[in-house]
Amino acid sequence: MKVAVLGAGPAGLYFAISMKRRNPAHEITVFERNRPDDTFGWGVVLSAETLDNLAANDAVSAAWIRDYFAYWDDIAVLHKGVRTVSTGHGFCGIGRKRLLLLLQRRAQDLGIELRFETEIDDPRPFMTSHDLVIGADGLNSRSRSAFADVFKPDIDVRKCKFVWLGTRQKFDDAFTFIFEETEHGWVWAHAYQFEPETATFIVECSEETWTKWGFGGMTREQSIATCERIFARQLGGHSLMSNAGHLRGSAWINFPRVLCERWSHKNLALLGDASASAHFSIGSGTKLALESAVALADYLHSEPSLAAAFEKYESARRTEVLRLQSAARNSLEWFEEVERYLPLDPVQFNYSLLTRSQRISHENLRLRDPEWLGGAEAWFQQRAGNTDNLRRTPMFAPFQLRDLKLKNRVVVSPMAQYKAVDGCPTDWHFAHYAERAKGGAGLIYIEMTCVSPEGRITPGCPGFYAPEHEVAWKRLVDFVHAETEAKICAQIGHSGPKGSTQLGWQHIDAPLPSGNWPVMAASEAAWSPANQVPKAMDRADMTRVRDQFVASAEMAARCGFDMLEIHAAHGYLLSSFITPLTNHRTDEYGGSLENRMRYPLEVFHAVRAVWPAHKPISIRISANDWMGDEGVTPAEAVEIARLLQGAGVDICDVSAGQTSIRARPVYGRMFQTPFSDRIRNETGMATMAVGNIYEPDHVNSILLAGRADLVCLARPHLADPYWTLHAAVAMGDRDVKWPDPYLNGRDQLYRLAERNTTIGLKV
Ligand SMILES: Cc1cc2nc3c(=O)[nH]c(=O)nc-3n(C[C@H](O)[C@H](O)[C@H](O)COP(=O)(O)OP(=O)(O)OC[C@H]3O[C@@H](n4cnc5c(N)ncnc54)[C@H](O)[C@@H]3O)c2cc1C
Ligand SMILES: Cc1cc2nc3c(=O)[nH]c(=O)nc-3n(C[C@H](O)[C@H](O)[C@H](O)COP(=O)(O)O)c2cc1C
Repeated sequence: MKVAVLGAGPAGLYFAISMKRRNPAHEITVFERNRPDDTFGWGVVLSAETLDNLAANDAVSAAWIRDYFAYWDDIAVLHKGVRTVSTGHGFCGIGRKRLLLLLQRRAQDLGIELRFETEIDDPRPFMTSHDLVIGADGLNSRSRSAFADVFKPDIDVRKCKFVWLGTRQKFDDAFTFIFEETEHGWVWAHAYQFEPETATFIVECSEETWTKWGFGGMTREQSIATCERIFARQLGGHSLMSNAGHLRGSAWINFPRVLCERWSHKNLALLGDASASAHFSIGSGTKLALESAVALADYLHSEPSLAAAFEKYESARRTEVLRLQSAARNSLEWFEEVERYLPLDPVQFNYSLLTRSQRISHENLRLRDPEWLGGAEAWFQQRAGNTDNLRRTPMFAPFQLRDLKLKNRVVVSPMAQYKAVDGCPTDWHFAHYAERAKGGAGLIYIEMTCVSPEGRITPGCPGFYAPEHEVAWKRLVDFVHAETEAKICAQIGHSGPKGSTQLGWQHIDAPLPSGNWPVMAASEAAWSPANQVPKAMDRADMTRVRDQFVASAEMAARCGFDMLEIHAAHGYLLSSFITPLTNHRTDEYGGSLENRMRYPLEVFHAVRAVWPAHKPISIRISANDWMGDEGVTPAEAVEIARLLQGAGVDICDVSAGQTSIRARPVYGRMFQTPFSDRIRNETGMATMAVGNIYEPDHVNSILLAGRADLVCLARPHLADPYWTLHAAVAMGDRDVKWPDPYLNGRDQLYRLAERNTTIGLKV
């Protein structure tokens, strides 16, 4: 085959090598605009695993690369004058220039022609003169732009500014992150040694800080001198160096995240950064380029045609690219928002940094550096006021709100049971909640309990509006207090536009087949075309419903509930005021956020006035309508939380969505936790995280990274009332209290866990 490779970066060179290794008869030419040793950039990080993959593909170049590898096990973080070091991370790296020179030599040995100083403006002529053309021309690929309508590149230019520098200062003991506060804002560096005499030193900051420093108007020399001043303490008199001669001005750029919809067209295939890029903070761009080169060469030899080979290449590599880009997005967003985390204590800041991409979990950190993690856990317990056992994981740290003391951070999230009769809780409720209270969670919620018969979601929803409700709830609360250490919270709410609908396991949110009752909301906005158009509440309605909330809170107080939550999420009545999607009012309760929050806050103040002063109140919100700027955004949720905090709400229960049938939520593990993180760290308000959190590892990492104060699990508690007790067994924590009658079962479980066997339970 006659092959033209456009671009002699890692992708192009390694592809040429891989092709020639598979069939020496290929006639391959690599075209490169630069001179052979004229490369920008400094060191690149790879992993031992990547090198093993390379060795299987071409043992010769892998051995040469290995000879020049630098290894680090430690990550050091310099923050607030404290240097925190953790170990066990296992990186390796090599100078970019060294890597390219080795690959060039190997390519030449194999008989590949390398044509340097050849600028390629257009891939089209090569597509007629060659059988196969590879666009490996990097981030700003001309091969890609020539067929932009086919490849459909999605280029997301990220917020931070960075410059890739080098230094002779030694960073040979650890991969080092340095955060410096300057008169114009925070500036940070990612520093790592890749050769005995040289270290990479990437400087990064927000666009705002970059503008205030005036980097944009500086020459390269001025920019370097400024960075040297900022990092003078860590550079120890050494200078910074740039080799980005190809970039104009001070050489700072914004990282473009590239992802093409298609990676091939006729006989042209895109490879490496040209097709998909990964942010440098997870050090995987070169790995992606090299591994994709191997895959493409493989398929070109295993498949019967170019088209079949390209199809396999795209489908096989896309999954890996998306996985890495997702981790890279988490990581780069963390750096973009780093000013939110910089006020954290150095221990928590370090933990947050290490777990930023969500690829490293809590228990993974324990494997890497048990001592460091143990210290971080002890710090967390101490801060939580635990003096007994500092070795426990964060989920078993106590938490206090007003006079309410929780023994741990696990919460049974509110979940409708649809088993009430005329608003009255039944034996089902008693048995269901009693079991969860015995299951070890620090706090259990009862489901949304409605302030009036019309405020019910379904005919099976319970209430706080009739004397018999009070008797039934009080019986449950008394049991929980007498027999368990759990605390119990009542969630009160009004269904608004989503009322008069079917039970959860019937046609959820659909109107009843018969016997519907009238519904009301902020505006005449029906939940769906099938639902009733609600009455827009007038002032008399608002006063009546507010008083119903107050009467329900008084009933909950008489029952002895330890905490109260007002449900202002998920499209129900109060939520219908908060979200602009359903609040179309033109009076003082509609329009601005302040206006949309006026009625929910009025209800809160009225309830707070009757709720015992020593007991806390929470409000649950939908922190993202998943409708872009049309609805509540995570940024607006921060403002909502500020208003709640200012009104005296003790904790914000941060849920999301269920406010519009048009919403397009992005699901995933812990997918709503970023909203809690943002609210907690931007306002300082206590928060609860909820949503697809199902492993002890998730709970511990959310807490120790400071993304929430309490963690709610809903569906896991439907499947397992004893989720917390079982999590403790799995983690080897023997300090949880089991109910006395169950101690024999506990002891058997502990023994089985020690023998690493199960009795049908995942321990
Ligand atoms: C600051 C920074 C730090 C990084 N750190 C790491 C890291 O630690 N680990 C890691 O794995 N990755 C890292 N990367 C990413 C890594 O550099 C790239 O992902 C990798 O180089 C991609 O290889 P490539 O061959 O696709 O592209 P490139 O390396 O960009 O190579 C493209 C080649 O094509 C040539 N070219 C471009 N246009 C033309 C043209 N018109 N005519 C002729 N030739 C042309 C270029 O000169 C270049 O030699 C980092 C990137 C940055 C910006
Ligand atoms: C059956 C069921 C009923 C629910 N009922 C309520 C409720 O009454 N009040 C509420 O605020 N959220 C309710 N939710 C939402 C949960 O509290 C929680 O926010 C959601 O299920 C996401 O958490 P998970 O991924 O742990 O299940 C309910 C969820 C389920 C599965």
